[in-house]
Amino acid sequence: MRMVDLIEKKRDGGELTTEEINFIIEGYTKGEIPDYQVSALAMAIFFKDMTQRERADLTMAMVHSGDTIDLSEIEGIKVDKHSTGGVGDTTTLVLAPLVAALDIPVAKMSGRGLGHTGGTIDKLESIEGFHVEIEREEFVELVNKHKIAVIGQTGNLTPADKKLYALRDVTGTVDSISLIASSIMSKKIAAGSDAIVLDVKTGAGAFMKTVDDAKALALAMVSIGNNVGRNTMAVISDMSQPLGFAIGNSLEVKEAIDTLKGQGPKDLEELCLALGRQMVYLAKKASSLEEAEEMLKEVIKNGKALEKFKEFIRNQGGNPDVVDHPEQLPQAKYQIEVPAKEDGVVAEIVADEIGTAAMWLGAGRATKESEIDLAVGLMLNKKIGDRVKKGESLVTIHANRENVDDVINKIYDNIRIADHAEAPVLIYGTVT
Ligand code: URA
Ligand code: CA
Repeated sequence: MRMVDLIEKKRDGGELTTEEINFIIEGYTKGEIPDYQVSALAMAIFFKDMTQRERADLTMAMVHSGDTIDLSEIEGIKVDKHSTGGVGDTTTLVLAPLVAALDIPVAKMSGRGLGHTGGTIDKLESIEGFHVEIEREEFVELVNKHKIAVIGQTGNLTPADKKLYALRDVTGTVDSISLIASSIMSKKIAAGSDAIVLDVKTGAGAFMKTVDDAKALALAMVSIGNNVGRNTMAVISDMSQPLGFAIGNSLEVKEAIDTLKGQGPKDLEELCLALGRQMVYLAKKASSLEEAEEMLKEVIKNGKALEKFKEFIRNQGGNPDVVDHPEQLPQAKYQIEVPAKEDGVVAEIVADEIGTAAMWLGAGRATKESEIDLAVGLMLNKKIGDRVKKGESLVTIHANRENVDDVINKIYDNIRIADHAEAPVLIYGTVT
């Protein structure tokens, strides 16, 4: 087989066979096929696209390019949740203990974040003592016994995807539904869960800016998952404005605690229930989505979800007192209010720009090497559709530097006040 023939085949709109896709991914991983040929192929895929079968084959070829995680020693149906990424997305911190409180195993492998805020691990590390550097055996034991554990990235997962994603980033070929879907799904499948609930975001703060694009990506990922034997479904949710109120690591831990107490922001709670009920249903713990949702509400009400969060923190070396005393989480030195300049209704809070403002404070990493400040971030005091009076605070900035004029200006540029506006739709639908 010659790579140039395969590039030409795709360029002319042909369908690559399973063998051809395996040849490409194996050759590329080993360094036998050069970047320039794979770039040309990625561009051909960008224009000519792939069939569902080709996408599933590409996904599995990338899964097999490296290690895969075997979770078979963990009892029960392992359901993973994955978000395509948004601003202030606190759902994982809420869902992990919430679902585990219903005896559904949550075996989470997580990474550090790049961008507006940290990843799940960074957020959890704002709890004193909490660590994810545990051995595989301990991880399995914890999940079997307590139904919940988080471990840092182990093994060499999907090296082909790492290489290909980096190449796409510099060759204008990131924005292909086929390539995005197989990239995300290869990582999820290699991580070993039996079933996958996807939260595909749409809006300013998301990869997919329109609902139609988000639906197309959701369909592509769900079809890959189901084609390769992992029960997969997707919820399409709004990311035009940040989710909940908190953007920043310890601020989001506090927000998760509030939500587990039933006192969280409405949108965050609604999305957690929408994703959670799908997880409970896929784990076969409920016979309908309605029943699943009732079960989730019950463990919030009776305190079991919050207890599970404490148990989880204790198991991984953290101080569970933060749940009752969130003031023990890292606190920023300065709290600065950003007052509204006029009366009206909040009409726009541009998610990605507000996320960038949080990153400037140090809540996220601009590059992989950046140091993160776990205490800093933003608290939204208003959301789209809320009435506001001149002088009322729109946002509270939590900072460890005194001068935050850059952040204040960024916030004013990206929160628009109008005469009328309504809260956006939160959930656009589901794809199964
Ligand atoms: N996220 C990924 O992991 N891969 C993509 O291709 C795009 C977003
Ligand atoms: Ca949030």
